[in-house]
Amino acid sequence: MAFSLQISYIRVLFLAFLTISFPLPGKGDLIDDVCSEMPDKKPLCLDTLRTDPRSTTQNLEVLAQISIDACVKDATGLPSFVESLGNKVSDPRVKTRISGCVINAENALGGITHAKQLVGTRFYGAAKENARTANDTLSICEHTFLIPSAVEPVELKQAMDRLESLVSIFIVITNRLS
Ligand SMILES: *[C@@H]1O[C@H](CO)[C@@H](O)[C@H](O)[C@H]1NC(C)=O
Repeated sequence: MAFSLQISYIRVLFLAFLTISFPLPGKGDLIDDVCSEMPDKKPLCLDTLRTDPRSTTQNLEVLAQISIDACVKDATGLPSFVESLGNKVSDPRVKTRISGCVINAENALGGITHAKQLVGTRFYGAAKENARTANDTLSICEHTFLIPSAVEPVELKQAMDRLESLVSIFIVITNRLS
């Protein structure tokens, strides 16, 4: 009798352990809730936030730090990457536009770096404005290719879209903080 009681006690403990260790995602999950605001970029959003070990603390301010760090990391290499794409093309119409994109990428990096400083001092509203401006700056690059007779290189589009998406994650988070 004592033996079977002990077994069921262990089973209860084990079930409790399972429940605590593997909480079901979905309801009450802050990251899922935030990322649901950007349905078409949700996988990138979830991946960016969840892969950072700091995200185990489900806190908006921590998520703001994680997302701006992801933006800084991505934006840092962007100007030189865009420049290298310019060196690979020969069409002068494309070259000229890519030169403009290098400047856009530098300006976006400046805005994102400033946004990170503002997150450090918890000025989330101002940080968000800098991020918005950086996002707009990146889209200027893309728009210059809409003018006929210049095809935007696929790698350029992918790089710009990725940083715009990362910046958008940060904007969604800081919207809730300011
Ligand atoms: C960032 O820019 C892209 C491209 O212009 C746009 O689709 C997206 O909505 C912008 N993100 C935010 C949060 O404004």
